[in-house]
Amino acid sequence: MKLRGLEFGNVFCTSGARGFFGEGYWFHRYARPFGLEYAGSTFIAKTTTLAPRKGNMPLAADGITPVDTRPSCIIAKPVQGFALNAVGLSGPGAAHLLGTKRWQLRLDPFLISFMAVGAARDDRMREAEGFVTLMRAHQRDFCAPFGIQLNVSCPNTGHDPSHLITDAVELLHVLSQLTVPLVMKVSVLMTPAAVLNILRRAPCDAVTVSNTIPWGALPHRIDWKGLFGTETSPLAHLGGGGLSGRPLLPLVLEWILAAKDLELPVPLIACGGILSWEDAAHLLVAGASAIELGSVSFLRPWRVRGIIQTVNRGFVEKRWF
Ligand SMILES: Cc1cc2nc3c(=O)[nH]c(=O)nc-3n(C[C@H](O)[C@H](O)[C@H](O)COP(=O)(O)O)c2cc1C
Repeated sequence: MKLRGLEFGNVFCTSGARGFFGEGYWFHRYARPFGLEYAGSTFIAKTTTLAPRKGNMPLAADGITPVDTRPSCIIAKPVQGFALNAVGLSGPGAAHLLGTKRWQLRLDPFLISFMAVGAARDDRMREAEGFVTLMRAHQRDFCAPFGIQLNVSCPNTGHDPSHLITDAVELLHVLSQLTVPLVMKVSVLMTPAAVLNILRRAPCDAVTVSNTIPWGALPHRIDWKGLFGTETSPLAHLGGGGLSGRPLLPLVLEWILAAKDLELPVPLIACGGILSWEDAAHLLVAGASAIELGSVSFLRPWRVRGIIQTVNRGFVEKRWF
């Protein structure tokens, strides 16, 4: 998939799957021999905010490594194939991350994920401006082409999602000053028609759908009590959390089909519930230009290498269109 003439590939590892720099998490080392390998996929950094952010996942002194091996803000159900998380964008902030030079030294195209989290609209715009200023100061040091994934859909920041959507147009305009590819990450809660509305008014090169789904949303489609055995989120004390994994797949598939009907003018990157290459195939045949792999890293880690290889081979053999 080319964005502004740059090749970014057709398989991404989603924001949050491999940390801020691709360092991964403690279990990655043990799962690698069994297939948790990302070769052939494009890296997306964990979402950073402009300022340091505590969130709900305690981080070590380096600002990027989770302190706990099993953070209490993540509930994984590997057998059933889903998870609930309320990480809440814990991180050291963009200046710290850029200060390490680890993004600048990457050699392959990748995406940096950014979210503006201020309570008021003006704060969020100021954050985006600050992020652009910071990135510009470092931009010439980057070895590889990069794009920005604008996260307007994290359910764990306590924002009213409808405001974040309204912001998207302005935020995209601010970020476009960087003259790099811009990918907007939405959730299935935002309709394809709403996204089309944004795309008509703002510079954006691709759309990723979906982020996690906030606890309690779409009750007619998601049996929250059936999944977690309770009406109240087990992460209610952290805001409720967002659902990832298997239950997202049919919702993302429907979204892609509806977006294709509407002829959204940019490539669509499907993300949510991809736990096998067949899941990915459904989304690609439905019209997605690329996929992102997320929770599969900890729900079915042994499948990651195979999914990446099969999807890439399918593109070479023109099986998905
Ligand atoms: C532990 C965890 C952390 C995540 N962190 C981020 C993040 O920093 N930024 C983001 O845009 N999405 C984040 N996500 C959402 C994923 O990128 C993805 O959109 C979502 O989990 C749906 O895909 P999946 O079902 O394949 O996991 C996170 C998900 C999980 C489970």
